[in-house]
Amino acid sequence: TAAYETILVETRGKVGLITLNRPKALNALNSQLVAEINLALDGFERDRGIGCMVITGSERAFAAGADIMEMKDKAYPETYLEDFITAWDRVAQRRKPIIAAVAGFALGGGCELAMMCDFILAADTAKFGQPEIKLGVMPGAGGTQRLTRFVGKSKAMEMCLTGRMMDAAEAERVGLVSRVIPAADLVDEALKVAAQIADMSMPSVMMTKESVNRAYETTLAEGVRFERRVFHAMFSMADQKEGMAAFADKRPAKFSNS
Ligand code: CAA
Repeated sequence: TAAYETILVETRGKVGLITLNRPKALNALNSQLVAEINLALDGFERDRGIGCMVITGSERAFAAGADIMEMKDKAYPETYLEDFITAWDRVAQRRKPIIAAVAGFALGGGCELAMMCDFILAADTAKFGQPEIKLGVMPGAGGTQRLTRFVGKSKAMEMCLTGRMMDAAEAERVGLVSRVIPAADLVDEALKVAAQIADMSMPSVMMTKESVNRAYETTLAEGVRFERRVFHAMFSMADQKEGMAAFADKRPAKFSNS
């Protein structure tokens, strides 16, 4: 991990933990930081011993957005030629699950990064927002699309047009986050949830993630068909036999990821 300058990368058992680490800029997401997240995720995805990842920030900020200093002088052709922001999408395309553990500010690209993860656990201190409109622009890493799917048009529109922040309680009420946790326990709880997921059958977990994500990409009928195909295919797995035999024997299942 000595190669990383803007994040900390650790493994805790079968869980890969990425901690955003640019404290002086409230973890503003510059191109180096996003490249390092992708590099760390590449490593965790290759590692058969890792079953789930957690991305977190500091107590004060998950991330206060894309790095404004880095982008303020960019000209249009440059944004187009370098395909500015598109590298971020790789976080959303991962096959193993990623939990965002959010304390403090998750603004702009920070909120968008959290929404690219599979679910968000929020500290009671979390604040979510898409303040790009105040900078004369708009969300550029999926915010207008993902926030709208999470919270519906009215709230997404209000937040994107005014830059208003949502606190943790509101974020839980409207379904942006799965749960709110006391700030002091956030990372431990996220690691615990991630460890639970990592102990499941890895192919089942990955197929489940793929199937839930289908819900955002297709019609209900096609999505249900996709689910049914994958569900049937799972009966070819040793882990299906083991999981159901363990239930019948009243013992914990021991999955072999096969
Ligand atoms: N980019 C670069 N630097 C940032 C930053 C960002 N997004 N957010 C904060 N910082 C820096 C500040 O410039 C400041 O640096 P200095 O100490 O060198 O002055 C440091 O972090 C601490 O920030 P503040 O002094 O502003 O702290 P605060 O507690 O007074 O305010 C805040 C906190 C409300 C989060 C405020 O920092 C803020 O509004 N930040 C910008 C939020 C924002 O607009 N995010 C959207 C970015 S655009 C985007 O993300 C595009 C996209 O969709 C991909």
